[in-house]
Amino acid sequence: MITNTELENKGNQFPSKIIGFEKDVDKLYFSTDNDVILQLTVVRDSLLRFRYTTVGNFDNDFSYAITKYASTGYNKLEIEENEDCYIVITSKLRCEISKESLRISLFDVKDGVLINEDEIGFHWEESYQYGGNIVKMSKVSNDGESYYGLGDKPNHLNLKGKRYNNWVTDSYAYGKDTDPIYKAIPFYTGLHHDKAYGIFFDNTFKTSFDFAQERRNVTSFWAQGGEMNYYFFYGPKMSDVVESYTDLTGKPHELPPLWALGFHQCKWSYYPESKVKEITSTFRKLEIPCDAIYLDIDYMDGFRCFTWNKEYFPDPKGMVKELKEQGFKTVAIIDPGIKIDKDYSVFKEALEKDYFCKRADGPYMKGKVWPGECYFPDFTNPEVRDWWSGLFKELIEEIGIKGVWNDMNEPAVMEVPNKTFPDDVRHDYDGNPCSHRKAHNVYGMQMARATYQGLKKYSYPKRPFVITRAAYSGTQRYTSTWTGDNVATWEHLWIANIQAQRLAMSGFSFAGSDIGGFAEQPQGELFTRWIQLGVFHPFFRVHSSGDHGDQEPWAFDEDVTDIVRKFIEIRYQLLPYLYTAFYNYADHGTPILKSLVLYDQEDVHTHYRTDEFIFGEQILACPVLEPNAKGRRMYVPRGNWYDYWTDEIVKGGKEMWVDSDIDSMPIFIKEGTVIPKYPIQQYVGEKNIDEITLEIYYKKGKESSELYSDANDGFDYKKGRYSLRTFKLTGRTKELIINQHKEGKFITPYETFKIKVHGLPFEIGEIQIDNEKIPLNHLVSNGTSSFVVDKNFSELHIISK
Ligand code: GLC
Repeated sequence: MITNTELENKGNQFPSKIIGFEKDVDKLYFSTDNDVILQLTVVRDSLLRFRYTTVGNFDNDFSYAITKYASTGYNKLEIEENEDCYIVITSKLRCEISKESLRISLFDVKDGVLINEDEIGFHWEESYQYGGNIVKMSKVSNDGESYYGLGDKPNHLNLKGKRYNNWVTDSYAYGKDTDPIYKAIPFYTGLHHDKAYGIFFDNTFKTSFDFAQERRNVTSFWAQGGEMNYYFFYGPKMSDVVESYTDLTGKPHELPPLWALGFHQCKWSYYPESKVKEITSTFRKLEIPCDAIYLDIDYMDGFRCFTWNKEYFPDPKGMVKELKEQGFKTVAIIDPGIKIDKDYSVFKEALEKDYFCKRADGPYMKGKVWPGECYFPDFTNPEVRDWWSGLFKELIEEIGIKGVWNDMNEPAVMEVPNKTFPDDVRHDYDGNPCSHRKAHNVYGMQMARATYQGLKKYSYPKRPFVITRAAYSGTQRYTSTWTGDNVATWEHLWIANIQAQRLAMSGFSFAGSDIGGFAEQPQGELFTRWIQLGVFHPFFRVHSSGDHGDQEPWAFDEDVTDIVRKFIEIRYQLLPYLYTAFYNYADHGTPILKSLVLYDQEDVHTHYRTDEFIFGEQILACPVLEPNAKGRRMYVPRGNWYDYWTDEIVKGGKEMWVDSDIDSMPIFIKEGTVIPKYPIQQYVGEKNIDEITLEIYYKKGKESSELYSDANDGFDYKKGRYSLRTFKLTGRTKELIINQHKEGKFITPYETFKIKVHGLPFEIGEIQIDNEKIPLNHLVSNGTSSFVVDKNFSELHIISK
């Protein structure tokens, strides 16, 4: 017998010294004595890509994460060389590459501060089992450095001292310490000495990150295969890092239809038809606003995707139409597993066309999911995605379903220990054939992408709406997401808050949790507190497994119903504000939720805060996370803030107690803000909105706010038919001025603004609109002063007596 012990003893291998350098426009190649090549691409002045091979040449360069719309181009690229290193200089960064070791150091080009440096740097181990390498990178972790990001990890926002894996996994009733769960987003932001940078490790194999856990001064990341291939983003502002990452991996291709930002009710499952209608009618009867109702797997015939159980739903088209008349949009679930059934057309077609995933030696990938034994389409094959998108024709065009919910797309497989496909399953990977080890983390993303293509086609001229459970970096281009099967506990309310914030700082803002908890049943108090948090999550849906009792707003007691209604109404009033935040997200990648560190990184108190966050640009929210609370302590960031409920002004930069009984929660508005509000509607489009309220919060000084409007659906806004209004506020001791700047071609249905002024330090003596006085008898005053102005005013002056 021959045993090759020499190979097995190799362990970690390292690049040797640089012996060659070549430049090809924006790509720089550094070759070492032992066949390692570093390809450094200057993507932008503040964005460099590092890619390594150990065999002297690179594989085909293909990524599901990077969008073709990413911005590229730099202002400066100079290369210098000294005895010890090559030096690459852009207008933002100075990157040194050691000739001896290929190690990297990155500096701020302006002040020379070291931002990030390799510890051991790139190294690798040969993978004897699979071929290729386990690729590794280790970096120095600086004193006081903090780490953020990584998608849906359910633990503390600051990742320091923790180790995580990325391998999307069906995780029923996961907890704070469960890892990994549903998403793989290998992107993090590091922050030290007030400088933030980001690292995106674009490798779809199982990846791991160690944030100074194993060794106090080292942060490292590695993958079970593929290339060491990472992007380095420089801020120094954390918000710029997050925007840059979102630009590279993609902003949502469309704004959601406005109704998708309303309230959604879901359960596993509402059936038969009469039950669905009972639920929607109760919403209308109790006047609790709601826009969407969900159909979980029981609407199908034996859990066969794209079929209907005709006993429960004899006339789906008729039902969807009736629901529509009540203002409800119907969303239906679609899973990836296709039931093995020779009489089932979807199965037959996929089989004929050879669209199902296969094991390495030829048999189909067979696995059990809800329908029993299934085969699974290979969504990494573009032809399969096309076919899949076509399957939605009837559901969307004929029946009138308005949104599709993709679940179990990790892909989840039941009754097997690893909960998913075995490693040897083959995938097309868009013409780069590979095993499941490489395709696993993108399988769900590609399913959601195919679904999105279908919805985009058949919903036209309306906008598509998709929701997914599994995701890899870039999935935010196509779909919204939720955080999977959580539990009705107070700890999970904390987790939901963390996950929504973390997803937002990982480029994926359109996210929310199963409100009230999926597994088990909440008490009314927990449900209420969760709804309060949900008001401030971009995706706002109640969902539960159903076998633990009811979870509708009226399933508890009347007090709960009333408080829940009050909070959902706040959401509906804030829709124009949220829509504006969404526009900023879709337009330049600005996260809709900002953890305090993202909002004010200079204030070190924010670095370890978890509960408080900024919703949009100027609303501070903080959920109450404990039972029987009459309030809580929270950190109010620097600046002056108005208490939403009392208009009392609070000076931030400190932790303080805030009263908030069960019918309240801590909400603050930044001074100087102009908040646009809709009237309360039972669903989006119920009312013709001819007036928007502008809540103006006085500030001595300047502040700017925005209001984005368009047709709330459709694609006209992409042709310039939108309206973006900027309100520039200037507050002085004896006057308050609002200048309005308008952009875009959309004629808004609203004609007037109702102005409500909060916190004016003087009594109003005169109001001028574009230099014309308005009679003061138009002024209504009950605590706040309000009056109505034409929407197209340019300058509004409120002057003291
Ligand atoms: C999974 C989903 C859950 C859904 C259930 C039945 O557990 O995460 O949301 O209700 O499957 O489809």
